[in-house]
Amino acid sequence: MSGPGQSTVGPVLSDAEYRSLCEWVYLQTGMVFDDRRRDVVENRLGARMQQHSGLSVQQYLRRLAVDEREAREFLDLLTVNETYFFRDLPQMTVFRQVLEEMVAERRQVPLGRLRVWSAGCSIGCEPYTLAMCIQEELDRQRVSLEWHVLGTDISPSSLEVAESALYSDREVRDVPPDLLKKYFRRRDTWWEFSHPCKNRVQFRYSNLLRPGREVQGAFDIVFCRNVLIYFDDASRRQVAETLFDLMVPGGYLFLGASESMSRISRAFQLRRVGSGFVYIRP
Ligand SMILES: C[S@@+](CC[C@H](N)C(=O)[O-])C[C@H]1O[C@@H](n2cnc3c(N)ncnc32)[C@H](O)[C@@H]1O
Repeated sequence: MSGPGQSTVGPVLSDAEYRSLCEWVYLQTGMVFDDRRRDVVENRLGARMQQHSGLSVQQYLRRLAVDEREAREFLDLLTVNETYFFRDLPQMTVFRQVLEEMVAERRQVPLGRLRVWSAGCSIGCEPYTLAMCIQEELDRQRVSLEWHVLGTDISPSSLEVAESALYSDREVRDVPPDLLKKYFRRRDTWWEFSHPCKNRVQFRYSNLLRPGREVQGAFDIVFCRNVLIYFDDASRRQVAETLFDLMVPGGYLFLGASESMSRISRAFQLRRVGSGFVYIRP
């Protein structure tokens, strides 16, 4: 996980400096920071400034505005990357029901394809979970489809972990034992996601506020869970429009348990699947 040591003490910003830094973070990422998180921001700023010991705070803040690489490194420290495999088991049951339907439909179509996007994928637990579920469903229905899972994030350190596919006991705690055995191998104290279907999962640095060519639709299923909780309604709305444009008609959108489209966008419809709900792009 990204994040500096807890003991780092950050520079103390003036109110005006803090407000302008938060405004910049918001414009870059959509993430909202208010006074309650001021110590976190100052602490992380301190951690990053240790790499640039010759610079004053004002010089460093000016540098952030012009140095994209440094901006990425700093923003990385502000992201919350909490995640684990099979997060929200009831929702994963809904996903499996949706998959069952989709795979059954696609098997009728010559050259059927399935494209899935994990937007805000953190260290990769979500995209690899989706890959396991897809592989299991294809095996169960004895269907061979062209399928891919794309994982995107703005946290370079998280994407590095995702590429390495090495996970702790804590992160795999909800993986059913048969799937743990089939899809992972032990490497020292780590669990490595090592099944050949790993090749179907790709990771890209991409900002949900302005995805570029690294994210090309059209996705059949999108997971954007526990990302928009850190945004305000204006940036949530912007992301909702982006997701809509990058999905196929009839595509499914999964949000986090505490997230909803109701105040944000009327473009998606809520559909009941089993005992849960999922959004559909009409
Ligand atoms: C709490 S994690 C959620 C991970 C996973 N979706 C899950 O639910 O387990 C939120 C992730 O969203 C990413 N994120 C925040 N703002 C983003 C943006 N503007 N574009 C892409 N990813 C973003 C963060 O870097 C972080 O890794």
